[in-house]
Amino acid sequence: MKYLLIAAGFTVAAMTAHAETPVERGRYLVESIGGCGNCHTPKGRRGQPIAAKKFAGGFVIKEKPFDAVASNITPDKETGIGNWTDAQIIRAIREGKRPDGSIIGPPMPIELYRKLSDTDVKAIVAYLRTIKPVHNKVKKSVYRMPLPKSYGPPVGKVADVPRSNKVAYGAYLAGPVGHCIECHTPMVRGRRNWSKTGAGGQAFHGPWGVVVARNITPHPDEGIGKWTAAQISRAVRKGISADGSRLKPPMAYSWYNRIKDDDMNAIVAYLKSLKPQQTPRK
Ligand code: HEC
Ligand code: HEC
Repeated sequence: MKYLLIAAGFTVAAMTAHAETPVERGRYLVESIGGCGNCHTPKGRRGQPIAAKKFAGGFVIKEKPFDAVASNITPDKETGIGNWTDAQIIRAIREGKRPDGSIIGPPMPIELYRKLSDTDVKAIVAYLRTIKPVHNKVKKSVYRMPLPKSYGPPVGKVADVPRSNKVAYGAYLAGPVGHCIECHTPMVRGRRNWSKTGAGGQAFHGPWGVVVARNITPHPDEGIGKWTAAQISRAVRKGISADGSRLKPPMAYSWYNRIKDDDMNAIVAYLKSLKPQQTPRK
């Protein structure tokens, strides 16, 4: 009897998971943890996303080596990606290559998007197809650095990460989907130093001034080792640090505010599993 109940429980769980359509899954990923709109939706004077130009691009991200202009990713046929096939959009997201063969530059996080699962990247494309086409021709990005010829061999098939493995699923959310670790890992000579994942130290320049990504490893003094799960969740979703102070952009707080509790718990479990690191000193 007990086994029957457990089996029934699994069936219900499986059915609930299947009840989410690709468009719903895609909407959730794009509008929450993925934070695509943090770059692809232009911002108004107070930093708020401009609703009429949702995903229509034109927002400029300035760093020393580039003035990157986020592309129009609405289904507009002339100025967006409305004429691209699903496979072409997937290739752009995971391999950083447009249908015309040109390479997509940073800070579009291609290195991490390579590991987006087939199910999730298809869901993202399914959702992008449903958003309102916006006619908005954006300027070309300027890169004062060479772009790679490619980001690696063709991606091929990527399996889903099982949600039952909380740390692994949290790593997937904080890496390939949410690219938390991209901002929070220090760079050495233009490359991310993955042996210091989460140690912080990267500086971001913008209308908000210069903001340095903080140490989100479990180091007790320099990181978030003494924080409760609730404090970590509040920082990510509301932009309020453990001491009550307000956190600044460009972290995508208003998108992360829509992360589901289970997913937030997985992210916290992953952060707690990281090797404690000292913050790089400049
Ligand atoms: C950190 C900022 C950032 C985030 C987050 C981001 N992008 Fe991008 N994306 C860019 C920039 C900048 C470009 C253009 C780069 C260039 O000019 O080479 C781009 C280019 C693209 C392109 C190529 C379109 C074209 O016509 O050039 C697609 C498709 C795309 N992004 C989809 C997405 C999706 C889907 C997400 C979320 C899952 C996402 N991006 C998240 C910054 C970002
Ligand atoms: C675009 C870059 C970027 C991304 C993506 C990003 N962060 Fe951040 N994060 C920052 C910066 C910069 C700060 C520091 C803000 C400040 O000092 O005001 C910060 C602050 C934090 C803090 C607060 C730490 C403290 O000591 O107050 C936590 C926790 C955190 N991030 C976790 C995450 C998680 C988890 C994700 C992914 C869901 C994430 N970040 C994604 C740039 C980023």
